[in-house]
Amino acid sequence: MSLQRACSTDDLAPASAKRVELADANGRSIPVAVVRDSDGSWHAIGDTCTHGHYSLSEGYVEDGTIECWKHGAPFDLNTGRALALPATQPVPVYAIDIKGSDVLVDVDTTL
Ligand code: FES
Repeated sequence: MSLQRACSTDDLAPASAKRVELADANGRSIPVAVVRDSDGSWHAIGDTCTHGHYSLSEGYVEDGTIECWKHGAPFDLNTGRALALPATQPVPVYAIDIKGSDVLVDVDTTL
Protein backbone atom coordinates (compact mmCIF):
# COMPACT_ATOMS: atom_id res chain seq x y z
CA MET A 1 0.00 0.00 0.00
CA SER A 2 1.06 3.60 -0.13
CA LEU A 3 0.04 7.00 1.02
CA GLN A 4 -3.72 7.50 0.98
CA ARG A 5 -5.85 10.53 1.70
CA ALA A 6 -6.89 10.64 5.35
CA CYS A 7 -8.49 14.08 5.57
CA SER A 8 -8.06 17.74 4.64
CA THR A 9 -5.68 20.10 6.36
CA ASP A 10 -8.76 22.26 6.96
CA ASP A 11 -10.23 19.54 9.17
CA LEU A 12 -7.84 20.08 12.07
CA ALA A 13 -6.85 23.17 14.01
CA PRO A 14 -3.58 23.10 15.94
CA ALA A 15 -3.79 20.92 19.10
CA SER A 16 -6.50 18.64 17.78
CA ALA A 17 -6.96 15.14 16.41
CA LYS A 18 -9.34 13.25 14.16
CA ARG A 19 -10.09 9.53 13.88
CA VAL A 20 -10.08 8.00 10.40
CA GLU A 21 -10.27 4.42 9.17
CA LEU A 22 -7.80 3.47 6.45
CA ALA A 23 -7.27 0.14 4.68
CA ASP A 24 -3.90 -1.57 4.84
CA ALA A 25 -2.38 -3.67 2.03
CA ASN A 26 -4.39 -6.69 3.21
CA GLY A 27 -7.65 -4.76 3.17
CA ARG A 28 -7.92 -4.59 6.95
CA SER A 29 -9.42 -1.45 8.43
CA ILE A 30 -6.88 0.42 10.57
CA PRO A 31 -8.06 3.09 13.02
CA VAL A 32 -5.73 6.07 12.81
CA ALA A 33 -5.55 9.27 14.83
CA VAL A 34 -4.45 12.10 12.55
CA VAL A 35 -3.00 14.68 14.90
CA ARG A 36 -2.06 18.30 14.44
CA ASP A 37 0.21 19.25 17.31
CA SER A 38 0.08 22.59 19.11
CA ASP A 39 3.08 23.73 17.00
CA GLY A 40 1.16 22.92 13.80
CA SER A 41 3.13 19.75 12.93
CA TRP A 42 1.26 16.69 11.63
CA HIS A 43 1.35 13.13 12.97
CA ALA A 44 -0.46 9.85 12.38
CA ILE A 45 -0.61 7.22 15.11
CA GLY A 46 -2.73 4.23 15.99
CA ASP A 47 -6.00 5.54 17.39
CA THR A 48 -6.50 2.82 19.99
CA CYS A 49 -5.05 3.42 23.45
CA THR A 50 -2.96 0.42 24.48
CA HIS A 51 -4.32 0.55 28.02
CA GLY A 52 -8.05 0.32 27.54
CA HIS A 53 -8.91 0.40 23.85
CA TYR A 54 -10.36 3.90 23.90
CA SER A 55 -9.98 6.35 21.03
CA LEU A 56 -6.89 8.54 21.43
CA SER A 57 -8.20 11.08 18.94
CA GLU A 58 -10.68 12.17 21.61
CA GLY A 59 -7.78 13.03 23.91
CA TYR A 60 -5.74 16.15 24.55
CA VAL A 61 -2.97 17.27 22.18
CA GLU A 62 -0.09 19.44 23.35
CA ASP A 63 3.68 19.78 22.90
CA GLY A 64 4.39 16.50 21.10
CA THR A 65 1.99 14.32 23.04
CA ILE A 66 -1.58 13.12 22.99
CA GLU A 67 -3.14 12.24 26.33
CA CYS A 68 -5.78 9.54 26.53
CA TRP A 69 -9.01 11.10 27.76
CA LYS A 70 -10.01 8.02 29.74
CA HIS A 71 -7.19 7.55 32.28
CA GLY A 72 -4.64 10.14 31.23
CA ALA A 73 -1.78 8.13 29.71
CA PRO A 74 0.28 10.39 27.41
CA PHE A 75 1.78 9.08 24.16
CA ASP A 76 4.72 10.60 22.27
CA LEU A 77 3.49 11.70 18.83
CA ASN A 78 6.91 11.04 17.21
CA THR A 79 7.69 7.63 18.68
CA GLY A 80 4.31 6.32 19.84
CA ARG A 81 5.85 5.53 23.23
CA ALA A 82 3.64 5.55 26.30
CA LEU A 83 5.23 8.21 28.52
CA ALA A 84 3.42 7.41 31.76
CA LEU A 85 1.12 4.87 33.37
CA PRO A 86 -1.38 3.39 33.14
CA ALA A 87 -0.39 2.62 29.51
CA THR A 88 2.88 0.73 29.06
CA GLN A 89 2.82 -0.34 25.40
CA PRO A 90 3.42 2.00 22.45
CA VAL A 91 1.01 2.81 19.64
CA PRO A 92 2.16 2.56 16.00
CA VAL A 93 3.38 5.72 14.27
CA TYR A 94 2.57 5.92 10.56
CA ALA A 95 4.19 7.77 7.68
CA ILE A 96 2.37 11.03 6.93
CA ASP A 97 2.74 13.67 4.23
CA ILE A 98 0.93 16.85 3.30
CA LYS A 99 0.26 17.56 -0.38
CA GLY A 100 -1.60 20.80 -0.90
CA SER A 101 -4.65 20.51 1.35
CA ASP A 102 -4.55 16.69 1.47
CA VAL A 103 -3.28 14.84 4.54
CA LEU A 104 -1.84 11.53 3.33
CA VAL A 105 -1.07 8.56 5.57
CA ASP A 106 0.55 5.18 4.85
CA VAL A 107 -0.70 2.60 7.37
CA ASP A 108 1.70 -0.01 5.98
CA THR A 109 4.75 2.07 6.88
CA THR A 110 5.43 2.47 10.58
CA LEU A 111 8.19 4.78 11.74
S1 FES B 1 -7.80 3.74 28.28
FE1 FES B 1 -6.20 5.10 27.76
S2 FES B 1 -5.14 5.40 29.63
FE2 FES B 1 -6.69 3.97 30.14
